Amino acid sequence: MTKSNTFSHLFHLEPAKKALTISAQSWLAIALVGQWAFALYIFMIYAVTLANGLDVNDFSPAPKLKSSEGFDRFLFFSHVIPAIYLSLFGLFQLVPQIRNRFKSFHRWNGRIFLILGFIGATTGLYLQWTGDRWQSVTASLGITLNGLLILVAVFFTWHYAIKKQINLHKRWAVHAFILVNGVWSFRLYLMGWYMVNQGPNGNTRNIDGPMDLFLSYACYLLPMAIAEVYFWANRQRSSGKVWGGTSVMTIGILITLIGVSAAVIMMWTPRISKVLGVL
Ligand code: HEM
Repeated sequence: MTKSNTFSHLFHLEPAKKALTISAQSWLAIALVGQWAFALYIFMIYAVTLANGLDVNDFSPAPKLKSSEGFDRFLFFSHVIPAIYLSLFGLFQLVPQIRNRFKSFHRWNGRIFLILGFIGATTGLYLQWTGDRWQSVTASLGITLNGLLILVAVFFTWHYAIKKQINLHKRWAVHAFILVNGVWSFRLYLMGWYMVNQGPNGNTRNIDGPMDLFLSYACYLLPMAIAEVYFWANRQRSSGKVWGGTSVMTIGILITLIGVSAAVIMMWTPRISKVLGVL
């Protein structure tokens, strides 16, 4: 193929669609690394410490844990421990090869994901709005909306699965995945922001600076918007539009890559190392 032929070939629909698929696969691969790193972090900070009789407060950054006891402490652990399962296995639901080849796994893993996501959202809302309020109301609204939207997305994902309306089920499942992982994305975006700015910029210790507030909404609204662009691009018959969707996906991939690298280097590795240091 000559150079000009190669170039004009890119304007055909098929290579455009292929690039869009590759962009989704690349995002999944990077996200999987970040999800498993988060799962390892939670496992080490909250499960390994507890199993070894260590004081979790020495390792966890969560102010809620320090101020809670009795039922609230139990609820805190009921909130964070399921996140290990969600982060280890949640992403498998989005991989078409797993969905198509292991249908029974997809069904069971999906049910567990939705139930644990529901529990995460309700216990999270409880933790956020009871006890010593450590965040301002404005700062709490981003995650509160996240929690409420999880409930809506869980409902519709399940509903359309039962009704066998697969396209709608798929669309809601992607949004449920993004929403349940809002807390994960928030850490990615926050650490990524710190990394590119070489420190905080519009952030405060209490996570209520203007950038913190922006990120508390962006951590789910931005990936949800990008997912919608992906679905739209997938339906298009014009290669230009499909390439447009791929470009948006590429921006999403870059943000996720920076976020995963920053969270692993700046947040999770130092805390995991601290636990390993005392074992
Ligand atoms: C299902 C989705 C969710 C998952 C997987 C999840 C996961 C977690 C994890 C792993 C932690 C420990 C944080 C750390 O060690 O860095 C945490 C803490 C917390 N989460 Fe969630 N969460 C979810 C949803 C929510 C929602 C919707 C809210 C509030 C509306 C919320 C409120 C909290 C609070 C208040 C803490 C304690 C934070 C602190 O004291 O610093 N979570 N969550």
